[in-house]
Amino acid sequence: MIDGVENERWAEGKSRNSSGGTMAISMTGTRGERQPRDLHETNLGWKVSRARCEMRYFDAVWRGEIPVRNLFLAERRTAHFAGTLFLPMKILVADKISSKGVAHLRQQPGFEVVEAYGSSPEKMLTLVKDVHAIAVRSETKITREIIAAAPLLKVVGRAGVGVDNVDVEAATERGVVVMNTPSGNTIATAELTFTHILCGARPVPQASASMSAGKWDRKSFSGVELFRKTLGIVGLGRIGGEVAKRAQAFGMRVLAYDPYLAPSRAKAMQVEAVSLEELLPQCDFITVHMPLTDDTKYMIGAAAFEKMKKGVRIFNCARGGIIEETALVAALKSGKVAAAGLDVYEGEPLAADSELRKLPNVVLTPHLGASTAEAQDAVGVEVAEQIADVLAGGVIRNAVNMPSIDAAALKVLAPYLDLGTKLGALVQQIAPAQISELRITYWGKVTELDANSVTRAIQRGYLRRISGEEVNFVNAPFFFKRLGVGVEVTKSNSESDYAGLIQVTAVTPDGGIH
Ligand SMILES: NC(=O)c1ccc[n+]([C@@H]2O[C@H](COP(=O)([O-])OP(=O)(O)OC[C@H]3O[C@@H](n4cnc5c(N)ncnc54)[C@H](O)[C@@H]3O)[C@@H](O)[C@H]2O)c1
Repeated sequence: MIDGVENERWAEGKSRNSSGGTMAISMTGTRGERQPRDLHETNLGWKVSRARCEMRYFDAVWRGEIPVRNLFLAERRTAHFAGTLFLPMKILVADKISSKGVAHLRQQPGFEVVEAYGSSPEKMLTLVKDVHAIAVRSETKITREIIAAAPLLKVVGRAGVGVDNVDVEAATERGVVVMNTPSGNTIATAELTFTHILCGARPVPQASASMSAGKWDRKSFSGVELFRKTLGIVGLGRIGGEVAKRAQAFGMRVLAYDPYLAPSRAKAMQVEAVSLEELLPQCDFITVHMPLTDDTKYMIGAAAFEKMKKGVRIFNCARGGIIEETALVAALKSGKVAAAGLDVYEGEPLAADSELRKLPNVVLTPHLGASTAEAQDAVGVEVAEQIADVLAGGVIRNAVNMPSIDAAALKVLAPYLDLGTKLGALVQQIAPAQISELRITYWGKVTELDANSVTRAIQRGYLRRISGEEVNFVNAPFFFKRLGVGVEVTKSNSESDYAGLIQVTAVTPDGGIH
């Protein structure tokens, strides 16, 4: 069985239900064919009719059959003269996102923004009745019931990374796009990591607590310098890369273990790419920055601590569970690990009686990686822009459950996308971890399809175990670029024994073919 692939659900869930989510008023499907109708004013002062809510027009726009810009520009003007306009699209901002994000939504023509923070689940059921989009952070839960109560819902935008508070499966079944904003937190989390690294070197929080207790203790809080020390970064993605830059500025030697990173990318960052076995015994400081996957769970456990230098300092601002907490506590107690800094935990919130809270050489923060004013602004604006783009029929960015393909094309493409995802996952599992290129060749009738989407499906399948749930059809090529892995696509017209054929080949840096 290919890992992760049997859970692919989007292919069944993406097709639009004609009753699910339309709002156009008085349109019979083709522009210009408007019928006499009774008119009334909406709260925006637009004249609309509810006489014939056939909803077909907006459905067509949503499916991508009619460019939405026509709806908002020429179409609106024409409709106005015809005495008819569309109801605004309603966006519910259910959790407090940055005011800049809300302002961005308000500026969009044809959007009505409702801010309702901290609403109870019962209240949400009423609020969502006529909304097209919901923006949340982590507080409001978008449950199956809420999705069912929102027949017009097109998109749920999460300002932040984790979508645990959204029932993605229910959304996918309904064809509702669920999006997150993975990059807005990068600098904030890299800086928090570096704060932890500095506090691991110099016990500032402990010294401050001692001062607050009225003491003047100049002996207990001696530290070490970062200058000329070796930092090991496990997972050299967005955040790991930013941590590397900061460490270099402090005069540290930086080693990185990221099996999916091309050597050229590590070289460009002036980071020494090494294996985990090589990294562990050499480093004075180790920080982890990868997703929690089957491969990364407990990657830093008792066996890994065994291989480390005595007095190593260790940090996790990525995901709880990458470092095994019981093994860390033992290593801290034995003196193998001199200090640790954690922002994330195996169970959150961290248990009040956790051993970690009792150790003097540990600095703990309650999952604050993204908690800066700038990151909050960034994710708020990002989610607002993404929602606006989706509702305006533009690009779907950072969708966790949908490819950005219109429904008609999807119907034809779906089996190929499914196959592509499986092929990508299979190749990733049989090829060595480090590759420099993925070569994809299409033959026969596959060449007539949207090969770009199939390529993305292959890339997404390939990345599932590497980048976790964050990777999707939209961002898979970007993930490849960041890993420094090239993708070469060929549409071949040479003869083949099959009506359609897709070949995926992984090429290693030494030219090996898999
Ligand atoms: N503390 C917080 O509040 C906070 C905020 C933002 C992100 N995060 C977490 O930080 C982590 C890193 O985020 P990012 O944006 O840099 O992600 P990213 O996808 O940019 O980078 C992850 C890197 O991990 C690498 N990787 C995957 N599997 C690996 C393995 N088995 N061994 C070594 N490397 C492996 C990937 O190749 C990739 O380069 C994620 O887990 C993210 O959820 C935490």
